[in-house]
Amino acid sequence: MDSLKHFVTVEHLDERQVGDLIELALAYKTNHAHLRLRRPVYVANLFFENSTRTHTSFAMAQKKLGLNEIAFDVHSSSTSKGESLYDTALTLDAIGLDLLVIRHSQNEYYNQLIHPTGNQTLAVGIINAGDGSGQHPSQCMLDMMTIYEKFHHFAGLNVVICGDITNSRVAKSNMQLLKLLGANLYFAGPAEWYDHEFDEFGHHVALDDVIGKVDVVMLLRVQHERHSQQEEGNFDAALYHQRYGLNQARYERLKDDAIIMHPGPINRGVEISDELVEADKSMFKRQMQNGVFMRMAMLSSVLVARKLAVITQEC
Ligand code: CP
Repeated sequence: MDSLKHFVTVEHLDERQVGDLIELALAYKTNHAHLRLRRPVYVANLFFENSTRTHTSFAMAQKKLGLNEIAFDVHSSSTSKGESLYDTALTLDAIGLDLLVIRHSQNEYYNQLIHPTGNQTLAVGIINAGDGSGQHPSQCMLDMMTIYEKFHHFAGLNVVICGDITNSRVAKSNMQLLKLLGANLYFAGPAEWYDHEFDEFGHHVALDDVIGKVDVVMLLRVQHERHSQQEEGNFDAALYHQRYGLNQARYERLKDDAIIMHPGPINRGVEISDELVEADKSMFKRQMQNGVFMRMAMLSSVLVARKLAVITQEC
């Protein structure tokens, strides 16, 4: 995985790399993979947007791999005095950090860090924990792992992604990899939260037209924080749930071996009925469990590409 000196998008991954990452994550999960560090490795987690799952899961993955996490609190950092993202990264690079895991509201914030210009000399590795409405590589990879664990393949699987697609970085990353891996993709949800730029990945349909034939239902969080005041004023949670939510009636129409996924956080009673969050077909908890192992795989792959570590994997 030589190309993974940074892990900022899934757009450039090929099928083999996705397969290798899933195999490695599964090997970590079953205790069949181990990371040997060539020297102590230092990592900081910079979350400019709130997070529970991704932040904690990266921190847990780092601990399990024996990395040294250097605490970084955005709110008490000098970013509050106006220090730029680039200068923050330059500072942490100079201090000796090897990797920065960053979540930021600006789409593609990482380009300024991984493609330095002029006399810039940033060497630190960047792992994207979510950029605006752009990409969410670690959520996407843990979702692929969870689908693979259930079905052992992707080609020909019918997947519907339902909800606030335009604003969702999870949807963007997942549609790109699911297409690469040969799944048949459908989109559902409000027309105003869909853009025809996604037509190259799948068809926009009514949820009720496909609910009985899909293998995977991916529900998306309604991203209130990215909506205009007018959109928020027009939003009716009960109506959304009735039209686009996973309720008991739709659950009962699912195929026997279909699965439900949600990246979290969930708006209970909106994207999914409260009582279905932990239903038999729901992978919500499994996704969060797998997130630790997939993030271990992603961190390790970047460290190997940087010649800072070696992975030993038992068959
Ligand atoms: N799925 C996800 O990104 O959740 P958090 O915002 O809690 O990290």
